[in-house]
Amino acid sequence: MPKNYKADNYNKNFVDQNMMGPNSMVILEELLGNIKLQREIKVLDLGCGKALSSVFLATEFGVQVFAVDLWINATKNYQRLQQVHAEDLVIPLHADAHQLPFADGYFDAVVSIDAYQYFGCDDKYYDEHLKPLLKKDALVAISIPGMKYELHKNVPDEMKPFWPDKALITWHGVNWWKEMFEGKLRDLEVKEMTCFDRAWGDWLSTDDPYAIMDRKMMAADHGRYMNLVSITGKSI
Ligand SMILES: C[S@@+](CC[C@H](N)C(=O)[O-])C[C@H]1O[C@@H](n2cnc3c(N)ncnc32)[C@H](O)[C@@H]1O
Repeated sequence: MPKNYKADNYNKNFVDQNMMGPNSMVILEELLGNIKLQREIKVLDLGCGKALSSVFLATEFGVQVFAVDLWINATKNYQRLQQVHAEDLVIPLHADAHQLPFADGYFDAVVSIDAYQYFGCDDKYYDEHLKPLLKKDALVAISIPGMKYELHKNVPDEMKPFWPDKALITWHGVNWWKEMFEGKLRDLEVKEMTCFDRAWGDWLSTDDPYAIMDRKMMAADHGRYMNLVSITGKSI
């Protein structure tokens, strides 16, 4: 039986218009699993894109979300948040993950969906830029697109048109990410996610030009190489 996702309770047009990749609401639901976030805690949504995940966090948990993104304008995100009456709980900000404008020890949790790979493949990123902003024992919950195994330079011929070397620098498997976070987080869990087909299916069914290009990539992949990786743990 297909799982029912809370994402289905949200306005489909709103979700379809604001995805920037696999459905971040679906991913976030699996990423948080049985974790219940306390109302009003401060959550950083890092690389929030068009703030779908921020809306989900605010609506499902009543937490205060700081929705930070580099490519998406904060005013546009504020207008989007107003459309779904989430503007009181979600604070949109335009900032680079390397220059986050927050006090040390500010956040009770950080979530990041389909964004951490753009800055967090640098071994020093977490310790230098993210850890200082987190309270001790803060929840860290990250999902990134990844690979079932490291392809390195051995990209299969059928995937070469879709995967420039640049893209593959950021796509890694479970073991690569485990090594990256070992010793950095308590109760570390790094897993392949089960919502891959559903989250990608939602994205590919939109008429976004990038989704239309991604349809060809997914057809060529045919379930062989790509996955979604989840990383959860507590800050030390
Ligand atoms: C594929 S989109 C995903 C957006 C959203 N999380 C989602 O799942 O729909 C990747 C996001 O990462 C953000 N990003 C990339 N590099 C960043 C950086 N250095 N600082 C902050 N955000 C960054 C981009 O602005 C972009 O919105």
